[in-house]
Amino acid sequence: MQDRIEQAAQTLLNAHHAVAFTGAGVSVESGIPTFRGPDGIWSRYDPESIELGFFLRHPGDSWTVIKEIFYDFFGQAAPNAAHRILAEMEASGILREVITQNIDNLHRDAGSRTVWEFHGNSRTLVCLACRATYPVGEVSLDTLPPLCECSGLLKPNFIFFGEGIPEPARSKSFAAASACDVMLVIGSTGEVAPASMLPGVARNGGATIIEVNPEPSLFTAGTTDIFLQGAATEMMGRLGVAMGLGEV
Ligand code: APR
Repeated sequence: MQDRIEQAAQTLLNAHHAVAFTGAGVSVESGIPTFRGPDGIWSRYDPESIELGFFLRHPGDSWTVIKEIFYDFFGQAAPNAAHRILAEMEASGILREVITQNIDNLHRDAGSRTVWEFHGNSRTLVCLACRATYPVGEVSLDTLPPLCECSGLLKPNFIFFGEGIPEPARSKSFAAASACDVMLVIGSTGEVAPASMLPGVARNGGATIIEVNPEPSLFTAGTTDIFLQGAATEMMGRLGVAMGLGEV
């Protein structure tokens, strides 16, 4: 494994445009569960709760589940070493940008500056009537569904099943995948399109794909060039040392 760590470190240090692509696995060691897998969110909750049509027909029921999944404990999560090392890689000029499927804001909290949030961000709510936005901390979730000052229905600013990918995140993410010469894929099953297309776009553009995951994903067999099998904090910690980054 150490030889692959060294190989990945050199690949990243020699890169002209390195991009990270992250999924729920990068936040597991911050206490946020994955969506799929043995204890995944979708094994405990019905994904219909965040299907747009259901939300519009049953906003109260949908918000009850949304609050429990995304606000009752997500809010207390802090970035872990993997988030911090990615931010350090950007600050050191090794990494250009992060594309994330995650809505937990932890890359920004860790100090990453160029972050494309492919599925949006849970930290703001948006009014479906007047499009006003509110930081979630300024809205009471004691009465559901929360309403805007204009009485419109408030919705978390992340995409529900049935919604399109927000701009500019979509265009910027595909541009980054096409332009990069190295993509570091961390903690994703690769099961949800169109996000899951991005590592393939990078590889088709000639990029080297480095993957960090304790389990093989849908990327591992046919897309990944260097597979670092392990948890994000451990693998990113070893990668950070091999790249000469300080302790983060
Ligand atoms: N470090 C790194 N990866 C991990 C860790 C860890 N400590 N623990 C688990 N993983 C990996 C799992 O092996 C799995 O491959 O994280 C991945 C989590 O997979 P998913 O839950 O499917 O997460 P993701 O791929 O991000 O899901 C994509 O699905 O429901 C939608 O919008 C939601 O953005 C999400 C999208």
